[in-house]
Amino acid sequence: MGRNKITGSTKIPQHIAIIMDGNGRWAKKRLMPRSFGHKKGMERMIGLMERAFDLGVSYVTVYALSTENLNRPEEELNGLYDLIRNHFEGYMERFYKKGVRLRIIGETHLLPADVQEIIKKVEQKTAHCIGKGVNVALCYGSRAELVRAVNMAIEKGERVTEDSLSSLLYTAGQPDPDLLIRTGREVRLSNFLLWQAAYAELYFSDKMFPEFSDKDLEKAVAWFSSRVRRFGKTDEQVANG
Ligand code: FPP
Repeated sequence: MGRNKITGSTKIPQHIAIIMDGNGRWAKKRLMPRSFGHKKGMERMIGLMERAFDLGVSYVTVYALSTENLNRPEEELNGLYDLIRNHFEGYMERFYKKGVRLRIIGETHLLPADVQEIIKKVEQKTAHCIGKGVNVALCYGSRAELVRAVNMAIEKGERVTEDSLSSLLYTAGQPDPDLLIRTGREVRLSNFLLWQAAYAELYFSDKMFPEFSDKDLEKAVAWFSSRVRRFGKTDEQVANG
């Protein structure tokens, strides 16, 4: 594998997952409403996705709204839905051109009907794209995803294996995330991709999401590149292939 021109690193993650935490605190520090933080967060989300694809990453999954977040004040949720209503299609336009498939993962039936329509439209536009993808987790919870998958297997009358269970998740057919980044100074997974991130390298940043720059992403990728991934093997086994 060649050296990446931007990071100078030899190993680029195939799939990066990001927990985009800290929009509210970032806005509060600037005496601005939380919705301002989310708007900046959305702009950063798009910027980081573009950067990731430029670096050679094939899949990016972002945690935009957890099932638990649905208990937030109506006003904040409406602000997030308005971001989707007003900007989502426009922002996603740039990914169509790059052949990136867009999927919204989670219990999307819990979203307002008009937001569901927008999501469907955007997903359909890229349904033909293969090999590169963006997953936006909305109304997502990893435990609920696993329960849903097991119930699908039960309905088919099948016992699950690791492979069959993976194929029943929203991320079916995609490589597992190999780098998971969380911003916002918290050090937990918050019910995000618990199955898929089993072997992911975990990178925690003290920066709030709106201030997590392209350079910060490159730093995380360079850090990933320096990690030795053993997948349960010894150092010697890894060295001998
Ligand atoms: C968690 O940080 C972040 C969220 C609940 C929303 C994340 C959303 C975006 C980055 C914008 C993209 C949006 C969509 C709808 C695609 P927080 O705001 O809870 O931060 P805090 O911990 O500082 O309060």
